[in-house]
Amino acid sequence: MEKYIEFQNITKIFPGQKALSDVSFSVAKGEVHALLGENGAGKSTLLNILHGMFPATEGKVFIEGKEVKFKNALDAIEFGIAKVHQEINIIPELTVAQNMMLGGEPQKGVLLDRKKMEQETQALLDRLGCDFKASDKVGLLSAGKKQMIQIAKALYLNARVISFDEPTSSLSNAEVKTLFGIIRELKEQGITILYISHKMDEIFEICDRASILRDGTYITTLDLKESTEEELVQNMVGRDVSMFAQRLKPSCRDNNTVVLKVDNLTGPAGFENISFELHKGEILGFFGLVGAMRTEVMRAIFGADPTTGGMVYYNGEALPEKRTPNMVVKRGIGLVSENRKEEGFVKNFDNADNIALASLKKYMKGMFVNRKMKEDNSNKVGETVGLHPNDPEFLTVSLSGGNAQKVILAKWLSTDADILILDEPTKGIDIGAKAEIYKLMEEIVASGKSIIMVSSEMTEVVGMSDRILVMREGHMAGELERDEFEEERIITYAVGGSQS
Ligand SMILES: Nc1ncnc2c1ncn2[C@@H]1O[C@H](COP(=O)(O)OP(=O)(O)OP(=O)(O)O)[C@@H](O)[C@H]1O
Ligand SMILES: [Mg+2]
Repeated sequence: MEKYIEFQNITKIFPGQKALSDVSFSVAKGEVHALLGENGAGKSTLLNILHGMFPATEGKVFIEGKEVKFKNALDAIEFGIAKVHQEINIIPELTVAQNMMLGGEPQKGVLLDRKKMEQETQALLDRLGCDFKASDKVGLLSAGKKQMIQIAKALYLNARVISFDEPTSSLSNAEVKTLFGIIRELKEQGITILYISHKMDEIFEICDRASILRDGTYITTLDLKESTEEELVQNMVGRDVSMFAQRLKPSCRDNNTVVLKVDNLTGPAGFENISFELHKGEILGFFGLVGAMRTEVMRAIFGADPTTGGMVYYNGEALPEKRTPNMVVKRGIGLVSENRKEEGFVKNFDNADNIALASLKKYMKGMFVNRKMKEDNSNKVGETVGLHPNDPEFLTVSLSGGNAQKVILAKWLSTDADILILDEPTKGIDIGAKAEIYKLMEEIVASGKSIIMVSSEMTEVVGMSDRILVMREGHMAGELERDEFEEERIITYAVGGSQS
């Protein structure tokens, strides 16, 4: 196979952390090439080197046989290497066209040629089949549409290589379908695609080959037409893991004890008359399509968003209608939010401090917070969630994406909350750590606590829940007991088809 991009002996050493070690492999022109590996394996680091975000400590990158040394991301973009990432700079106040042209505006004299800018952008949006306008403000668009802007931008810049780092984590099913259609088209045009994801079904659907990294070293490149999921996971993890979300212990639900009762909760976000009960020891799954407003309901229960009607009872006692997260946490309810990157941790804190944030009282000795106790806790809980590196002094911001999420999980597991609301608990989390998190959930309920798990992953909801509630467009759409779990029925509730 012809080598289009070639990584040759790439090593990357961060202060105190070797992220990549002598990595060599190549990517062919016009293929969709997956980069696989557990959290912290070095996937994003390798892409960042390709994109000129920072140099490799050692090693070379070749494109079409010539060594490239990009000084910065702009340099790489000019060469035709573009990326579509979650945390890309998009300025919400600007229009789609203005955002597209940032850094490469067509000039008319010294003034921006606004008309040309909009026309060119609109042409690209049409080509991608987008249903929004070049003149729309970006801030109002969904995650999927923002991503389309990045793809349009890559096309505008005549990219020859486009990389995607976990592109589907905030997309609706329909948006994922559109994205895959576009990736197939890009491929037909000879554009080379690099694709990072933790979702195996996606990898098999859209990618041709996969290169696997483990702990910063290159393991192998596999042709996906000739490989099985087991094989990929084996190579990624290097040990046997349970690939399935499944209960290993019997249910711990105590049907006679209601720990949380939500009664006709209504909120300005658009959800209405949400009522349900959570039992002691229960794992209650909340399924729905993106936009069903599950996150909004959880935030309202937690006091992070206001409500306009309805009540929440915790162990039979009403929570104040105007509640704050602080009050709710004190009662014993924790929320691991879906946007862990934005809401979850303090930037210049290390792991021990971040993990201790929601349970400070536990580490008090007299009047002072005891650092040693924080570190012990960090070590212990860090191990449970599979944190890597599990180092209390490591700055959380320097962790890989998935590991930063584990810190947030660890933070809430350190509290004595007896109700944990987990919003998409395994989003961005690798397959090995997923199994650990499932085990942990079982341990939590076995200790008499209760869990609400919001998830868009069918296998996870079906595998782990005692009971499933389905939401659709801000309303309760269905409820199923474990012996009634059937994917088809759950989907029907979620999309609103007729019930037989
Ligand atoms: N700026 C940095 N300073 C120090 N260490 C870093 C920095 N960026 C990344 N690392 C470390 O490099 C290693 C590889 O991280 P990287 O982000 O490439 O992982 P990844 O494979 O993308 O993981 P994930 O699936 O969680 O996104 C990790 O151990 C991480 O802690
Ligand atoms: Mg990453």
